Amino acid sequence: MDVELLGATMNHLGARSESSWLARNGVTKHRSQFLRRGYFSWDLPPHIVHGLRGFFAAEIRTTFSPSDYREDYVPWTASETEMNLLNQESVYFGLPNPAAVAVMEDFLHSIKDEIEEQLGYCWRIYNVRAWSVRPGSAFGPNAWHSDGFSLYRRKLMFYLDPPNEHNGSIEFADRNENMRILESDVAQCILFDSAILMHRARPPKTGVRPSIEVTTIPSMQTSTKCIFAGHAALVPKHINGEIADRLDAGRYRGPEDVKSSPNEKPRRSLTSRLSKAAQRLVRKMKQALRGTGAKDRDEEAMEVRKAHCRVRLNIGGAPTLGHDGWMNLGPVAGPGNEFPFGLDETTLFPVPSSTVSTIYLSDCLEHLDDKALAHILGEVRRVIADHGDLVAKVADFGARAKRRREGDNSNGFRSRDELVGLLEGAGFSVRTVRANQICNRFSGMPNIKVMKKSSFYCHAVPAQTSGKRIEQGGDSGVNRRAQGISRND
Ligand SMILES: [Fe+2]
Repeated sequence: MDVELLGATMNHLGARSESSWLARNGVTKHRSQFLRRGYFSWDLPPHIVHGLRGFFAAEIRTTFSPSDYREDYVPWTASETEMNLLNQESVYFGLPNPAAVAVMEDFLHSIKDEIEEQLGYCWRIYNVRAWSVRPGSAFGPNAWHSDGFSLYRRKLMFYLDPPNEHNGSIEFADRNENMRILESDVAQCILFDSAILMHRARPPKTGVRPSIEVTTIPSMQTSTKCIFAGHAALVPKHINGEIADRLDAGRYRGPEDVKSSPNEKPRRSLTSRLSKAAQRLVRKMKQALRGTGAKDRDEEAMEVRKAHCRVRLNIGGAPTLGHDGWMNLGPVAGPGNEFPFGLDETTLFPVPSSTVSTIYLSDCLEHLDDKALAHILGEVRRVIADHGDLVAKVADFGARAKRRREGDNSNGFRSRDELVGLLEGAGFSVRTVRANQICNRFSGMPNIKVMKKSSFYCHAVPAQTSGKRIEQGGDSGVNRRAQGISRND
């Protein structure tokens, strides 16, 4: 099974897990700090830190090896140069003793409900790894990157020494593209959206910085059982057989599926593109370092924001309409839409809540019956980020409205006001209904330049007070420096 299919499977599993969690909790729009900002952190009490030191015992010290993965996992393939660099910059550790594992599982058990609230779904662990970073490291996890693979791959990182400039830390751009460094007077555990957010480990000034990484996967039931699949284990081969088989059966396999574009190959998936953007950034930074020495901090932050992985959805687009940086959700498989996606009253977008910065609904709403329409708009509201934008386009609006007024209720809208009302009812504030203004603002959108007079364009943003909320207090009570993560709020 290939990584593209596994990533898509995990995205669909995540949506299913979220949906059942929301139903169980009677929530339509979940809110948490993690969903709003992309991170949430906990203090690690001294006795937990003491117990977790067992992950760094001298007798389990090892080196990074590309063959260090369990058979039921897809490996991360490292070249010899990459392997050497990883081993130069970090010290790796193998399976810890049962006492240390028990400390980790007990601690995770104590915060498992809070993690569930933050994520908005049940979760389990698919890999735990421990390594210590040496001073001056700038490769692999120490270079700017996002983890990609699946939008639902979320990580917990443990820093056993208080994270700061001297001990080393983690730096990232949060969901609103603010640059953050984790800084605290005590050891920390941080849950962050590692698949999407640009981040890098900060090495220590002296000594080593021990860190434990716990990678999570959505599940129908939460479990804190630790799995040690090896340092080179990328992803489990079996995530959900039923979802994987269904996706594989409908998958676009070649040009014969789409007559209009015989030479097109499938576009790279969203997650591949995320890592590609990160690779481009790392390359650019290395070039800058060679030419002019260390980069100015503001300049670097600007580069990171530019490469920041926005999740953008094109819903209902044509099968050939692949667009760089966009995930397509359309019913017909094609080079721009590798895994076809039906739009009806039961479909769940394979995307985590509150992560999408732009949603384009193109030639879509007018084809849905009333039940499907309400459901799809609910999904749009679930996945859009707080500061996200929704652009809805309805083709041939006038003709459809006329048919509807004459008694044809199969699809379409009687008036612009009716569609605006539907969007408002789904939790949006409608900002603009004029085509040209939308065109200027969203010129990078797929097919947005094809503006027809007969089409209706509408720009909406999430209304700030819609939906039922679960707010987290979540202040860990640590005074952190102003430029770092000041509070969990
Ligand atoms: Fe990472």
